[in-house]
Amino acid sequence: MDRDTWTPPAAPAARGAGTVGTLYGSRLFLRPEHAAARATVETFLAGDGPVVWEIGFDHGIVLLDAARAHPDVRYLGAEIRRKRVEAVLPNAPPNCLPVRADARALVALIPDERLTHVLVQFPTPALHGHHWLFTPEVRDGWRRALAPGGSVTVQTDVPALVGWVDALFAGWGEGAAPPLGGASSRRARVCARDGLTVWTRSFLRPDAAHSR
Ligand SMILES: C[S@@+](CC[C@H](N)C(=O)[O-])C[C@H]1O[C@@H](n2cnc3c(N)ncnc32)[C@H](O)[C@@H]1O
Repeated sequence: MDRDTWTPPAAPAARGAGTVGTLYGSRLFLRPEHAAARATVETFLAGDGPVVWEIGFDHGIVLLDAARAHPDVRYLGAEIRRKRVEAVLPNAPPNCLPVRADARALVALIPDERLTHVLVQFPTPALHGHHWLFTPEVRDGWRRALAPGGSVTVQTDVPALVGWVDALFAGWGEGAAPPLGGASSRRARVCARDGLTVWTRSFLRPDAAHSR
């Protein structure tokens, strides 16, 4: 896949309710057999205080570093690759919950206005619409889950991806990046090593008055 010529895939045709393409289905965590996972996430998110949600944490470099640097902030992580999650889990401090999940299913467990930040660093430039994260439906899920003043931060080295997210978040203001610890993700390190241009965008959740 050539990052310079990549273009976003077409959205898959809708099939009833739910997000098409979500690993195990977008309503996975609402099924009775996943009650324990649901309870774990709900307990982690209970109460007040800032919550950062990192999607696609991969090796957990940024997630773990941020959680250690900010013990007063909770860090929820979603990653679809099981082995990555299993490797990160034993190293997670109490304010960090790495979950093996497709973010498009996990969002259902996040109460309205509970998050302060969503972070997506170097999202995969999907080749198929079923794997594509940056759809209006996913954006609206994040917006529902974000508190007033909350933001979505996206970092990428793919030119067409930054154009796409700029258009997707049109009408959102300029947001603040989440509190992090200073470590660079694996892809960020590759970009720095190879001198690649990296774009970082933070989009502020529109308030209700502006969003209708
Ligand atoms: C290109 S990698 C970037 C990893 C890391 N954030 C970095 O900056 O190096 C994208 C990551 O997102 C994960 N991912 C892709 N789609 C996802 C989804 N729907 N939910 C959760 N994780 C996802 C992939 O498994 C992969 O680890």
